[in-house]
Amino acid sequence: MKPLSSQAFDAVTRLFHSVSGIRLTESKHALVTGRLQRLATEAGEPDVETYVEKLLRGGAPAQEMTRLIDRLTTNETYFFREPQHFNDLADRLALVPPGQDFSVWSAASSSGEEAYSVAMLLSEQLTHAPWQIIGTDLSTAMVESARRALYPMDRARMVPPAYLKRFCLRGMGEQTGQVLVSRELRVKVRFEAANLMQPLPDWLPQFDVIFLRNVLIYFDTEAKAEILRRVLGHLKPQGVLYTGHAESLSSLGLPLRPLGTAVHTHA
Ligand SMILES: C[S@@+](CC[C@H](N)C(=O)[O-])C[C@H]1O[C@@H](n2cnc3c(N)ncnc32)[C@H](O)[C@@H]1O
Repeated sequence: MKPLSSQAFDAVTRLFHSVSGIRLTESKHALVTGRLQRLATEAGEPDVETYVEKLLRGGAPAQEMTRLIDRLTTNETYFFREPQHFNDLADRLALVPPGQDFSVWSAASSSGEEAYSVAMLLSEQLTHAPWQIIGTDLSTAMVESARRALYPMDRARMVPPAYLKRFCLRGMGEQTGQVLVSRELRVKVRFEAANLMQPLPDWLPQFDVIFLRNVLIYFDTEAKAEILRRVLGHLKPQGVLYTGHAESLSSLGLPLRPLGTAVHTHA
């Protein structure tokens, strides 16, 4: 596969950055070429260079931009990733007053495993209060995949056995080797597209808990701070924010108070 020229790489990554806020540096050149190859083939272009040239010349139509974003975002995720956060949340659930609404936002939900992991926990342990979960992601392909809730078995390896039994259906026939999240949970978790780099949708409420994990790593300091400010605008005064363990927020000068490792609340 012929790599993209530096010029085409710069142009396409600039375009991607303008929409997503994610800066793909030169170290990602081979990765970007690889990810665009399939789009080029699907578009009937002989190589990625021609695909990018035509995309830019045609003013990057919305439909093709959606496909580009779906290809260039990194969506890796799995159930009960960074399990300390789920243990921390479990401890907090006991303090929720009976009957008081409890809401959780998975703010870069990818294919939905994080939101469904929270749903399993809430179903089991928050039986004394009504709850809702919303998952949002930039990639519409990921939002659709989250709504389908059908996963390769290995993504569910961290699901506690009792939850696996209660909330996951083993695929049969064509779906062998996959698990489907039960309908009981699917109907309780809503997934929508939302770009954290743009004003958030009006319908998005205030949350008791926000998961914003393994997404900030892709942004520069300025964009990180902008996203956090926007997200914190949707966290209730006593709310809890979970960020990825690899993501340091200390240099951003935001009004946050640590409650634990990668666990925060308003200062
Ligand atoms: C690595 S996944 C993280 C999934 C999950 N939170 C976890 O920790 O496993 C990162 C997700 O962030 C999404 N993302 C990237 N930029 C975004 C943006 N500007 N707005 C919303 N989501 C974005 C990507 O589409 C991707 O699905």
